[in-house]
Amino acid sequence: MTSKTALITGITGQDGSYLTELLLAKGYQVHGIVRRASTFNTQRIDHLYQDPHDPEARLFLHYGDLTDGTRMASLLEQICPDEVYHLAAQSHVRVSFDEPEFTGNATGLGTTRLLETIRVMGLPCRFYQASSSEMFGSAPPPQHEGTAFHPRSPYGVAKVYAYWATRNYREAYGMYAVNGILFNHESPRRGLTFVTRKVALAAARIKAGLQDEVHLGNLEARRDWGYAAEYVNAMWRMLQQDAPDDYVVATGTSCSVREFVAYCFAHVGLDWRNHVRFDERYLRPAEVDHLVGDASKAEQLLGWRPTVQAPELARLMVDAEVNALRTQCVPAQAHGPVLAAAGVAG
Ligand code: NAP
Ligand code: GDD
Repeated sequence: MTSKTALITGITGQDGSYLTELLLAKGYQVHGIVRRASTFNTQRIDHLYQDPHDPEARLFLHYGDLTDGTRMASLLEQICPDEVYHLAAQSHVRVSFDEPEFTGNATGLGTTRLLETIRVMGLPCRFYQASSSEMFGSAPPPQHEGTAFHPRSPYGVAKVYAYWATRNYREAYGMYAVNGILFNHESPRRGLTFVTRKVALAAARIKAGLQDEVHLGNLEARRDWGYAAEYVNAMWRMLQQDAPDDYVVATGTSCSVREFVAYCFAHVGLDWRNHVRFDERYLRPAEVDHLVGDASKAEQLLGWRPTVQAPELARLMVDAEVNALRTQCVPAQAHGPVLAAAGVAG
Protein backbone atom coordinates (compact mmCIF):
# COMPACT_ATOMS: atom_id res chain seq x y z
CA MET A 1 0.00 0.00 0.00
CA THR A 2 1.16 3.50 -0.84
CA SER A 3 0.87 6.71 1.16
CA LYS A 4 0.75 8.89 -1.95
CA THR A 5 -1.77 11.61 -2.66
CA ALA A 6 -3.41 11.96 -6.07
CA LEU A 7 -5.47 14.77 -7.55
CA ILE A 8 -7.95 13.79 -10.26
CA THR A 9 -9.60 16.39 -12.45
CA GLY A 10 -12.70 14.93 -14.10
CA ILE A 11 -13.28 12.52 -11.21
CA THR A 12 -17.03 12.44 -11.97
CA GLY A 13 -16.42 11.19 -15.52
CA GLN A 14 -16.18 7.64 -16.82
CA ASP A 15 -12.40 7.37 -16.47
CA GLY A 16 -12.30 9.36 -13.24
CA SER A 17 -14.56 6.84 -11.54
CA TYR A 18 -12.50 3.80 -12.56
CA LEU A 19 -9.22 5.54 -11.72
CA THR A 20 -10.53 6.50 -8.28
CA GLU A 21 -11.38 2.86 -7.59
CA LEU A 22 -7.90 1.81 -8.69
CA LEU A 23 -6.03 4.42 -6.63
CA LEU A 24 -8.11 3.87 -3.48
CA ALA A 25 -7.40 0.14 -3.78
CA LYS A 26 -3.69 0.95 -3.93
CA GLY A 27 -3.91 2.98 -0.72
CA TYR A 28 -3.79 6.49 -2.22
CA GLN A 29 -5.44 9.49 -0.68
CA VAL A 30 -7.55 10.74 -3.58
CA HIS A 31 -8.74 14.31 -4.15
CA GLY A 32 -11.18 15.02 -6.95
CA ILE A 33 -12.43 18.20 -8.57
CA VAL A 34 -16.18 18.40 -9.08
CA ARG A 35 -18.11 21.05 -11.00
CA ARG A 36 -20.86 22.73 -9.07
CA ALA A 37 -24.17 21.90 -10.73
CA SER A 38 -27.78 22.43 -9.72
CA THR A 39 -28.29 18.67 -9.87
CA PHE A 40 -25.95 15.99 -8.54
CA ASN A 41 -23.26 14.96 -11.01
CA THR A 42 -21.46 12.43 -8.82
CA GLN A 43 -23.43 9.29 -9.73
CA ARG A 44 -20.34 7.48 -11.05
CA ILE A 45 -18.49 7.87 -7.76
CA ASP A 46 -21.34 7.76 -5.24
CA HIS A 47 -20.46 4.15 -4.39
CA LEU A 48 -17.00 5.38 -3.32
CA TYR A 49 -18.22 8.24 -1.13
CA GLN A 50 -16.51 8.58 2.24
CA ASP A 51 -17.65 10.91 5.01
CA PRO A 52 -14.86 13.51 5.21
CA HIS A 53 -15.38 13.61 9.01
CA ASP A 54 -14.24 9.99 9.21
CA PRO A 55 -10.56 10.01 10.27
CA GLU A 56 -10.01 7.03 7.95
CA ALA A 57 -11.43 8.85 4.90
CA ARG A 58 -9.15 8.83 1.85
CA LEU A 59 -11.47 10.36 -0.77
CA PHE A 60 -12.06 14.12 -0.78
CA LEU A 61 -14.04 16.21 -3.28
CA HIS A 62 -13.55 19.90 -4.05
CA TYR A 63 -15.56 22.27 -6.19
CA GLY A 64 -13.68 23.71 -9.13
CA ASP A 65 -13.78 24.42 -12.83
CA LEU A 66 -10.98 24.12 -15.37
CA THR A 67 -11.73 27.59 -16.69
CA ASP A 68 -11.07 29.10 -13.24
CA GLY A 69 -7.29 29.31 -13.03
CA THR A 70 -7.22 30.88 -9.57
CA ARG A 71 -9.22 28.02 -8.12
CA MET A 72 -7.05 25.41 -9.87
CA ALA A 73 -3.97 27.08 -8.38
CA SER A 74 -5.35 27.26 -4.84
CA LEU A 75 -6.40 23.60 -4.95
CA LEU A 76 -3.01 22.46 -6.19
CA GLU A 77 -1.28 24.47 -3.46
CA GLN A 78 -3.64 23.18 -0.75
CA ILE A 79 -3.52 19.49 -1.77
CA CYS A 80 0.11 19.38 -2.92
CA PRO A 81 -0.42 16.02 -4.67
CA ASP A 82 2.26 13.52 -5.62
CA GLU A 83 0.41 12.73 -8.82
CA VAL A 84 -2.03 14.77 -10.92
CA TYR A 85 -4.32 12.90 -13.32
CA HIS A 86 -5.74 15.56 -15.58
CA LEU A 87 -8.84 13.92 -17.06
CA ALA A 88 -11.34 16.79 -17.11
CA ALA A 89 -12.35 18.11 -20.51
CA GLN A 90 -15.27 18.99 -22.73
CA SER A 91 -14.87 15.53 -24.21
CA HIS A 92 -17.63 15.27 -26.83
CA VAL A 93 -16.37 15.65 -30.41
CA ARG A 94 -19.72 16.59 -31.99
CA VAL A 95 -20.43 19.13 -29.25
CA SER A 96 -17.01 20.71 -29.82
CA PHE A 97 -18.22 21.89 -33.25
CA ASP A 98 -21.07 23.71 -31.49
CA GLU A 99 -18.89 25.05 -28.65
CA PRO A 100 -15.39 25.47 -30.12
CA GLU A 101 -14.41 28.41 -27.92
CA PHE A 102 -15.43 26.75 -24.66
CA THR A 103 -13.78 23.51 -25.79
CA GLY A 104 -10.53 25.35 -26.46
CA ASN A 105 -10.71 27.05 -23.09
CA ALA A 106 -11.49 23.97 -21.02
CA THR A 107 -9.88 21.14 -23.00
CA GLY A 108 -6.86 23.08 -24.26
CA LEU A 109 -6.06 25.95 -21.92
CA GLY A 110 -7.17 23.98 -18.86
CA THR A 111 -4.00 21.90 -19.23
CA THR A 112 -1.76 24.97 -19.41
CA ARG A 113 -3.39 26.42 -16.28
CA LEU A 114 -2.46 23.31 -14.31
CA LEU A 115 1.05 22.94 -15.75
CA GLU A 116 1.90 26.61 -15.24
CA THR A 117 0.69 26.49 -11.63
CA ILE A 118 2.81 23.40 -10.95
CA ARG A 119 5.84 25.14 -12.49
CA VAL A 120 5.40 28.49 -10.74
CA MET A 121 4.78 26.90 -7.34
CA GLY A 122 7.56 24.37 -7.86
CA LEU A 123 5.26 21.53 -6.86
CA PRO A 124 7.10 18.19 -6.92
CA CYS A 125 4.28 16.28 -8.61
CA ARG A 126 3.95 14.03 -11.64
CA PHE A 127 1.40 15.05 -14.28
CA TYR A 128 -0.76 12.90 -16.55
CA GLN A 129 -2.45 14.52 -19.58
CA ALA A 130 -5.48 12.71 -21.04
CA SER A 131 -4.48 12.93 -24.68
CA SER A 132 -6.60 11.34 -27.37
CA SER A 133 -6.49 9.33 -30.58
CA GLU A 134 -8.76 12.06 -31.93
CA MET A 135 -5.51 14.05 -32.39
CA PHE A 136 -4.54 11.66 -35.21
CA GLY A 137 -7.72 12.52 -37.09
CA SER A 138 -7.17 11.70 -40.74
CA ALA A 139 -3.67 10.21 -40.31
CA PRO A 140 -3.80 6.68 -41.80
CA PRO A 141 -3.87 3.71 -39.39
CA PRO A 142 -2.27 2.12 -37.51
CA GLN A 143 -1.41 5.21 -35.45
CA HIS A 144 1.48 5.19 -32.97
CA GLU A 145 3.48 7.67 -30.87
CA GLY A 146 5.40 8.88 -33.95
CA THR A 147 2.37 9.42 -36.22
CA ALA A 148 1.84 13.05 -37.24
CA PHE A 149 -1.35 14.61 -35.90
CA HIS A 150 -4.11 15.83 -38.23
CA PRO A 151 -7.06 16.71 -35.97
CA ARG A 152 -10.53 16.95 -37.50
CA SER A 153 -12.53 18.73 -34.79
CA PRO A 154 -12.20 21.64 -32.33
CA TYR A 155 -11.88 18.96 -29.66
CA GLY A 156 -8.99 17.33 -31.53
CA VAL A 157 -7.33 20.69 -32.05
CA ALA A 158 -7.62 21.52 -28.34
CA LYS A 159 -6.16 18.12 -27.40
CA VAL A 160 -3.20 18.67 -29.77
CA TYR A 161 -2.53 22.00 -28.03
CA ALA A 162 -2.68 20.32 -24.62
CA TYR A 163 -0.44 17.48 -25.83
CA TRP A 164 2.26 19.91 -26.94
CA ALA A 165 1.89 21.99 -23.78
CA THR A 166 2.58 18.84 -21.76
CA ARG A 167 5.63 17.95 -23.86
CA ASN A 168 6.88 21.51 -23.73
CA TYR A 169 6.76 21.67 -19.92
CA ARG A 170 8.63 18.37 -19.82
CA GLU A 171 11.32 19.51 -22.26
CA ALA A 172 11.62 23.13 -21.09
CA TYR A 173 11.40 22.66 -17.31
CA GLY A 174 12.22 19.01 -16.78
CA MET A 175 8.81 18.28 -15.33
CA TYR A 176 7.54 14.71 -15.04
CA ALA A 177 4.65 15.29 -17.45
CA VAL A 178 3.30 12.56 -19.72
CA ASN A 179 0.72 12.12 -22.45
CA GLY A 180 -1.42 9.01 -22.46
CA ILE A 181 -2.75 8.87 -26.02
CA LEU A 182 -5.79 6.74 -25.40
CA PHE A 183 -7.95 5.33 -28.15
CA ASN A 184 -11.72 5.07 -27.59
CA HIS A 185 -12.56 3.24 -24.39
CA GLU A 186 -16.06 2.50 -23.21
CA SER A 187 -17.98 0.90 -20.38
CA PRO A 188 -21.41 0.83 -18.76
CA ARG A 189 -20.36 4.16 -17.20
CA ARG A 190 -19.86 5.84 -20.58
CA GLY A 191 -21.80 9.05 -21.17
CA LEU A 192 -25.18 8.47 -22.79
CA THR A 193 -24.40 10.55 -25.89
CA PHE A 194 -21.36 8.53 -27.01
CA VAL A 195 -22.28 6.02 -29.67
CA THR A 196 -21.48 2.77 -27.83
CA ARG A 197 -23.55 3.56 -24.75
CA LYS A 198 -26.33 5.10 -26.82
CA VAL A 199 -26.59 1.89 -28.86
CA ALA A 200 -26.21 -0.51 -25.90
CA LEU A 201 -28.98 1.32 -24.06
CA ALA A 202 -31.21 1.41 -27.15
CA ALA A 203 -30.78 -2.33 -27.77
CA ALA A 204 -31.78 -3.11 -24.16
CA ARG A 205 -34.76 -0.73 -24.21
CA ILE A 206 -36.01 -2.00 -27.58
CA LYS A 207 -35.74 -5.57 -26.34
CA ALA A 208 -37.75 -4.55 -23.26
CA GLY A 209 -40.43 -2.93 -25.43
CA LEU A 210 -39.65 0.57 -24.11
CA GLN A 211 -38.80 2.05 -27.53
CA ASP A 212 -38.73 0.86 -31.10
CA GLU A 213 -35.93 2.69 -32.87
CA VAL A 214 -32.73 4.65 -32.40
CA HIS A 215 -31.38 7.45 -34.60
CA LEU A 216 -27.72 7.41 -35.55
CA GLY A 217 -25.36 9.25 -37.90
CA ASN A 218 -22.32 7.83 -39.71
CA LEU A 219 -22.18 4.03 -39.42
CA GLU A 220 -19.00 3.63 -41.49
CA ALA A 221 -16.44 5.19 -39.12
CA ARG A 222 -14.08 2.67 -37.58
CA ARG A 223 -12.81 2.90 -34.01
CA ASP A 224 -10.39 0.99 -31.83
CA TRP A 225 -12.74 0.37 -28.90
CA GLY A 226 -11.39 -0.93 -25.58
CA TYR A 227 -12.68 -1.29 -22.04
CA ALA A 228 -12.23 1.78 -19.82
CA ALA A 229 -11.68 -0.20 -16.62
CA GLU A 230 -8.50 -1.63 -18.16
CA TYR A 231 -7.26 1.68 -19.58
CA VAL A 232 -6.98 3.55 -16.27
CA ASN A 233 -4.35 1.03 -15.21
CA ALA A 234 -2.16 2.23 -18.08
CA MET A 235 -2.55 5.82 -16.83
CA TRP A 236 -1.28 4.83 -13.40
CA ARG A 237 1.65 2.88 -14.88
CA MET A 238 2.74 5.92 -16.89
CA LEU A 239 3.30 7.87 -13.67
CA GLN A 240 5.33 5.07 -12.03
CA GLN A 241 8.22 5.00 -14.53
CA ASP A 242 11.78 6.25 -13.99
CA ALA A 243 11.40 8.85 -16.73
CA PRO A 244 8.40 10.62 -18.28
CA ASP A 245 7.31 9.61 -21.78
CA ASP A 246 4.24 9.45 -24.01
CA TYR A 247 2.32 6.25 -24.77
CA VAL A 248 -0.44 5.05 -27.08
CA VAL A 249 -3.04 2.90 -25.32
CA ALA A 250 -5.27 0.83 -27.62
CA THR A 251 -6.40 -2.70 -28.48
CA GLY A 252 -4.81 -2.77 -31.95
CA THR A 253 -8.07 -3.79 -33.62
CA SER A 254 -10.99 -1.80 -34.97
CA CYS A 255 -14.57 -2.26 -36.05
CA SER A 256 -17.12 0.03 -37.67
CA VAL A 257 -20.00 1.70 -35.86
CA ARG A 258 -22.25 -0.56 -37.96
CA GLU A 259 -20.47 -3.69 -36.67
CA PHE A 260 -20.65 -2.48 -33.06
CA VAL A 261 -24.38 -1.84 -33.50
CA ALA A 262 -24.82 -5.35 -34.90
CA TYR A 263 -22.95 -6.89 -31.93
CA CYS A 264 -25.23 -5.06 -29.47
CA PHE A 265 -28.51 -5.94 -31.15
CA ALA A 266 -27.53 -9.54 -31.86
CA HIS A 267 -26.76 -10.00 -28.17
CA VAL A 268 -30.43 -9.44 -27.35
CA GLY A 269 -31.64 -11.43 -30.35
CA LEU A 270 -32.60 -8.45 -32.56
CA ASP A 271 -31.77 -7.49 -36.15
CA TRP A 272 -30.42 -3.92 -35.94
CA ARG A 273 -31.66 -3.12 -39.47
CA ASN A 274 -35.24 -3.16 -38.18
CA HIS A 275 -34.53 -0.51 -35.53
CA VAL A 276 -31.74 1.88 -36.62
CA ARG A 277 -32.74 5.08 -38.43
CA PHE A 278 -30.46 7.69 -39.95
CA ASP A 279 -30.47 11.26 -38.61
CA GLU A 280 -28.12 13.77 -40.19
CA ARG A 281 -27.91 15.82 -36.99
CA TYR A 282 -25.50 13.19 -35.67
CA LEU A 283 -23.07 13.73 -38.53
CA ARG A 284 -20.00 15.90 -37.93
CA PRO A 285 -18.72 18.68 -40.24
CA ALA A 286 -15.51 16.63 -40.52
CA GLU A 287 -15.20 12.98 -39.56
CA VAL A 288 -12.38 10.77 -38.34
CA ASP A 289 -12.74 7.69 -40.51
CA HIS A 290 -10.39 5.09 -39.12
CA LEU A 291 -8.52 4.79 -35.84
CA VAL A 292 -6.44 1.75 -34.90
CA GLY A 293 -3.75 2.11 -32.29
CA ASP A 294 -0.36 0.44 -32.13
CA ALA A 295 0.20 0.10 -28.38
CA SER A 296 3.37 -1.99 -28.58
CA LYS A 297 5.39 0.65 -26.71
CA ALA A 298 2.97 0.53 -23.76
CA GLU A 299 3.12 -3.25 -23.78
CA GLN A 300 6.92 -3.35 -23.84
CA LEU A 301 7.70 -0.54 -21.39
CA LEU A 302 4.64 -0.45 -19.14
CA GLY A 303 3.75 -4.14 -19.28
CA TRP A 304 0.18 -3.11 -20.13
CA ARG A 305 -2.01 -5.21 -22.39
CA PRO A 306 -5.80 -5.08 -22.93
CA THR A 307 -7.96 -8.20 -22.79
CA VAL A 308 -11.39 -6.93 -23.90
CA GLN A 309 -12.12 -6.41 -27.63
CA ALA A 310 -15.18 -4.81 -29.24
CA PRO A 311 -17.50 -7.87 -29.43
CA GLU A 312 -17.07 -8.64 -25.72
CA LEU A 313 -17.30 -4.94 -24.88
CA ALA A 314 -20.63 -4.71 -26.70
CA ARG A 315 -21.95 -7.71 -24.80
CA LEU A 316 -20.91 -6.45 -21.39
CA MET A 317 -22.39 -3.00 -22.07
CA VAL A 318 -25.71 -4.43 -23.25
CA ASP A 319 -25.81 -6.83 -20.28
CA ALA A 320 -25.35 -3.87 -17.92
CA GLU A 321 -28.28 -2.03 -19.51
CA VAL A 322 -30.51 -5.11 -19.43
CA ASN A 323 -29.68 -5.67 -15.75
CA ALA A 324 -30.24 -2.00 -14.90
CA LEU A 325 -33.66 -2.10 -16.55
CA ARG A 326 -34.54 -5.32 -14.71
CA THR A 327 -33.61 -3.85 -11.33
CA GLN A 328 -35.26 -0.52 -12.15
CA CYS A 329 -31.93 1.12 -11.50
CA VAL A 330 -32.37 3.51 -14.42
CA PRO A 331 -31.91 7.11 -13.30
CA ALA A 332 -29.33 7.90 -15.96
CA GLN A 333 -31.17 6.02 -18.69
CA ALA A 334 -34.25 8.12 -18.18
CA HIS A 335 -32.36 11.00 -19.77
CA GLY A 336 -31.93 9.15 -23.07
CA PRO A 337 -35.32 9.84 -24.62
CA VAL A 338 -35.34 13.34 -23.13
CA LEU A 339 -32.03 14.20 -24.79
CA ALA A 340 -33.17 12.71 -28.08
CA ALA A 341 -36.42 14.65 -27.96
CA ALA A 342 -34.54 17.87 -27.25
CA GLY A 343 -32.36 17.27 -30.28
CA VAL A 344 -29.18 17.33 -28.23
CA ALA A 345 -26.21 16.18 -30.28
CA GLY A 346 -24.93 12.81 -29.22
P1 NAP B 1 -16.16 12.19 -19.52
O1 NAP B 1 -16.90 11.00 -19.02
O2 NAP B 1 -16.83 13.12 -20.46
O3 NAP B 1 -15.71 13.03 -18.21
C1 NAP B 1 -15.21 14.33 -18.34
C2 NAP B 1 -14.98 14.89 -16.96
O4 NAP B 1 -14.51 16.25 -17.09
C3 NAP B 1 -16.25 14.96 -16.09
O5 NAP B 1 -15.89 14.70 -14.76
C4 NAP B 1 -16.67 16.40 -16.26
O6 NAP B 1 -17.46 16.89 -15.20
C5 NAP B 1 -15.31 17.08 -16.26
N1 NAP B 1 -15.34 18.43 -16.81
C6 NAP B 1 -15.78 18.81 -18.02
N2 NAP B 1 -15.62 20.14 -18.18
C7 NAP B 1 -15.08 20.59 -17.02
C8 NAP B 1 -14.70 21.88 -16.55
N3 NAP B 1 -14.85 22.97 -17.30
N4 NAP B 1 -14.18 21.99 -15.31
C9 NAP B 1 -14.04 20.89 -14.53
N5 NAP B 1 -14.38 19.65 -14.92
C10 NAP B 1 -14.90 19.51 -16.14
O7 NAP B 1 -14.79 11.77 -20.18
P2 NAP B 1 -13.98 10.38 -20.05
O8 NAP B 1 -14.48 9.45 -21.11
O9 NAP B 1 -13.93 9.95 -18.65
O10 NAP B 1 -12.52 10.85 -20.54
C11 NAP B 1 -11.58 11.36 -19.61
C12 NAP B 1 -10.55 12.20 -20.37
O11 NAP B 1 -9.91 11.38 -21.34
C13 NAP B 1 -11.12 13.39 -21.13
O12 NAP B 1 -10.15 14.41 -21.11
C14 NAP B 1 -11.27 12.88 -22.55
O13 NAP B 1 -11.22 13.94 -23.46
C15 NAP B 1 -10.07 11.95 -22.64
N6 NAP B 1 -10.16 10.84 -23.56
C16 NAP B 1 -11.24 10.00 -23.48
C17 NAP B 1 -11.31 8.91 -24.33
C18 NAP B 1 -12.45 7.93 -24.28
O14 NAP B 1 -12.62 7.17 -25.23
N7 NAP B 1 -13.23 7.91 -23.19
C19 NAP B 1 -10.25 8.67 -25.24
C20 NAP B 1 -9.17 9.53 -25.26
C21 NAP B 1 -9.12 10.61 -24.39
P3 NAP B 1 -19.08 16.67 -15.21
O15 NAP B 1 -19.29 15.27 -14.70
O16 NAP B 1 -19.56 17.73 -14.29
O17 NAP B 1 -19.54 16.83 -16.62
N1 GDD C 1 -21.89 10.21 -30.47
C1 GDD C 1 -22.45 9.67 -31.57
N2 GDD C 1 -23.80 9.62 -31.67
N3 GDD C 1 -21.64 9.18 -32.53
C2 GDD C 1 -22.22 8.62 -33.62
C3 GDD C 1 -23.60 8.53 -33.79
C4 GDD C 1 -24.45 9.07 -32.76
O1 GDD C 1 -25.67 9.04 -32.83
N4 GDD C 1 -23.86 7.93 -34.95
C5 GDD C 1 -22.68 7.63 -35.50
N5 GDD C 1 -21.68 8.06 -34.71
C6 GDD C 1 -20.24 7.94 -34.99
C7 GDD C 1 -19.45 9.25 -34.90
O2 GDD C 1 -19.62 10.03 -36.10
C8 GDD C 1 -18.03 8.72 -34.73
O3 GDD C 1 -17.48 8.40 -35.99
C9 GDD C 1 -18.23 7.41 -33.94
O4 GDD C 1 -19.63 7.12 -34.00
C10 GDD C 1 -17.80 7.50 -32.49
O5 GDD C 1 -18.43 8.65 -31.92
P1 GDD C 1 -18.36 8.91 -30.33
O6 GDD C 1 -18.85 7.73 -29.59
O7 GDD C 1 -19.04 10.22 -30.08
O8 GDD C 1 -16.79 8.99 -30.02
P2 GDD C 1 -15.62 9.79 -30.75
O9 GDD C 1 -14.75 8.78 -31.42
O10 GDD C 1 -16.12 10.91 -31.58
O11 GDD C 1 -14.84 10.44 -29.51
C11 GDD C 1 -14.53 9.64 -28.38
O12 GDD C 1 -13.27 9.04 -28.53
C12 GDD C 1 -12.17 9.94 -28.58
C13 GDD C 1 -10.91 9.09 -28.77
O13 GDD C 1 -10.71 8.82 -30.12
C14 GDD C 1 -14.58 10.58 -27.16
O14 GDD C 1 -14.49 9.80 -25.99
C15 GDD C 1 -13.42 11.55 -27.13
O15 GDD C 1 -13.40 12.27 -25.91
C16 GDD C 1 -12.13 10.73 -27.28
O16 GDD C 1 -11.01 11.58 -27.24
